[in-house]
Amino acid sequence: MIRPVNPYPVGLDLEGRRVVVIGGGSVAQRRIPVLLESGAAVHLISPEITPTLQGLVDSGRIWWQAREYHTGDLEGAWYVVAATKDSLVNARVAAEAEQLRTFCVRSDAVTSGTAVTPAVVRRGEMLVAVLTGDRARTAEARDVVARALLEADAEAPGTDEKLRGTVALVGGGPGADDLMTVRGRRLLASADVVVADRLAPQRPLSELRADVEIVDAAKIPYGRAMAQEAINQVLVDRAREGKFVVRLKGGDSFLYGRGYEEAQACAAAGIPCSVVPGVSSALAVPALAGIPVTNRGMTHEATIVSGHLPPGHPDSLVNWEALARMHGTLVILMGVKNTPAIARSLVEGGRDADTPAAVIMDGSLDGQQTHRGTLGTLDALLVEHDVRPPAIVVVGDVAGLPEVLSGV
Ligand SMILES: C[S@@+](CC[C@H](N)C(=O)[O-])C[C@H]1O[C@@H](n2cnc3c(N)ncnc32)[C@H](O)[C@@H]1O
Repeated sequence: MIRPVNPYPVGLDLEGRRVVVIGGGSVAQRRIPVLLESGAAVHLISPEITPTLQGLVDSGRIWWQAREYHTGDLEGAWYVVAATKDSLVNARVAAEAEQLRTFCVRSDAVTSGTAVTPAVVRRGEMLVAVLTGDRARTAEARDVVARALLEADAEAPGTDEKLRGTVALVGGGPGADDLMTVRGRRLLASADVVVADRLAPQRPLSELRADVEIVDAAKIPYGRAMAQEAINQVLVDRAREGKFVVRLKGGDSFLYGRGYEEAQACAAAGIPCSVVPGVSSALAVPALAGIPVTNRGMTHEATIVSGHLPPGHPDSLVNWEALARMHGTLVILMGVKNTPAIARSLVEGGRDADTPAAVIMDGSLDGQQTHRGTLGTLDALLVEHDVRPPAIVVVGDVAGLPEVLSGV
């Protein structure tokens, strides 16, 4: 039956209720996780299913019968998804559902079922569903809504009550504003106070409401050793005033980010503190330069190491001798100044001077630069290209792989 789409919007409570999905291809793969999120008891019928659906079967999250659809399969179902590649089968499923008075979505002919799946946007506990009757237009409208919600978040007049008096440690990613997580952006838009680092993405700060206090962590007026204590104090003090405080840093707060110390300080002061993991520069910056930190058949290990102290420094906690004997990838952060000493120590410890190496400066930012050489030429490479922080050095065979990225 073809009918004009003029659907009545409704939210179904599918908790524990039987939902039958006929067909185990990509449509089922997209729909079933959403049904599971709603608590549906999903019964899948299809001779074959995708590996992802097989994973759901193996973990006991859905029940699968490996066979064709038969009339009678929809008995007891509250909701049906007809998602086979064969429109005749889908039509038979829809006809049986109609007879049983069970709502049925047809993946191949949207207007021929008795229900239509909306495109959805989630914002925390809010769910916005979009229906237009035309798939392309629905997706387009959903994207418009998603963008509008993000902008509205940024202009939101106030803080979510639940967040008042708490601190969130938000990892901001390597620098480009669109490499921040959606959760991080959402919390940032709710902040009353943002304590930001130099390497945190800067553009989202310029989009904050005018009344948001931005504390530049680099400018907190204490000596170097005191700076972290002073930052902890700002977080605690502002949260005690009932404000929602976002501590925004570059990359991930728990990788050379002192995030744990800040969480400890909040815990000691009785301030609730949460963390939003960020895209760490340690993985993202090599990736943006086209360098995978592991590669099948080549490198099975990748070690992230801080180069802020040179080998042999009394305060160094790094076993450079052991690193020199490894064959895998070394990703060195905060190492620009000490790279000559580090490279020398690795070669002296047994790592081949011809091992490929690369240095990536200002990853994800407008001025991103990648320079490739070897462990033996790293020192000269840094001087020749006037490499300055922030930069990451990658040592290992992966740094010598041919460049294959060409997208924008
Ligand atoms: C104090 S560590 C912080 C790391 C951060 N928490 C993370 O997960 O990315 C700072 C070092 O990260 C590296 N780094 C951070 N952002 C970078 C970027 N955009 N380009 C290159 N290196 C970066 C540099 O090695 C820099 O010295």
